Amino acid sequence: MKGIILSGGTGTRLHPLTKVTSKQLLPVYNKPMILYPLETLLKAGVRDILIIIAPDHAGDYKKLLGSGEEFGCRLTYKIQEKPEGLAQAFIIGQDFIGNDSVCMILGDNIFEDDFSSNIKDFISGGCIFVKKVSDPERFGVVQFDENRRAIKIVEKPKEHISDYAITGLYIFDNRVVEAARSVKPSARGELEITDLHLWYLQKGELAIENVYGEWIDAGTFESLYRAGELMRHKTIS
Ligand code: G1P
Repeated sequence: MKGIILSGGTGTRLHPLTKVTSKQLLPVYNKPMILYPLETLLKAGVRDILIIIAPDHAGDYKKLLGSGEEFGCRLTYKIQEKPEGLAQAFIIGQDFIGNDSVCMILGDNIFEDDFSSNIKDFISGGCIFVKKVSDPERFGVVQFDENRRAIKIVEKPKEHISDYAITGLYIFDNRVVEAARSVKPSARGELEITDLHLWYLQKGELAIENVYGEWIDAGTFESLYRAGELMRHKTIS
């Protein structure tokens, strides 16, 4: 299983904090944000990891993370020239992925859970992780029928369809590269990750698991603050 940490984007929602650095390098209590998703992959046993970064602060990532030796893993870096969507990561990472399956985590997603068994037990298809939230309009969401079968997946729905947000951790088999290549840019000009979920869902091959512990997408001032509070609490208690 290969790993990808997607750490691109311009972080405009966090201006002026992100005017001189990358969102995923901002402090979350006592560490740069990206160390948390890195730890999530390491804890799950993923040791060969591609970090996809925006061009502006690439040098800072290498300075912080280096070859990965310090963390007991192998790190590779690639640039995402423009923020053209999460699904593009699998095209940028095509050579790195090779013939393997891949677990991607977003560089601003902080999880408490341990995903080792999901990764060890993964055979094929796609697997996404959902959590009930009070602000689903911020996320990709899944609507379920009464038997908890997914019937709809929508990126940032304008009208409420469900409280189940899709978190920024995804496991896909090798066909994800082919799926990403088939995705057309959305109205906002991005290759949407939700189209990949739909690609697997339509084939009946999308598993949807729950996230049980805390999950924070630290991409807003409020959630960044909460992430810091959570990590402080976990560190000192
Ligand atoms: C992205 C995805 C969205 C997902 C979210 C999780 O949104 O597009 O489907 O729910 O990450 O953090 P973004 O935070 O890039 O707006």
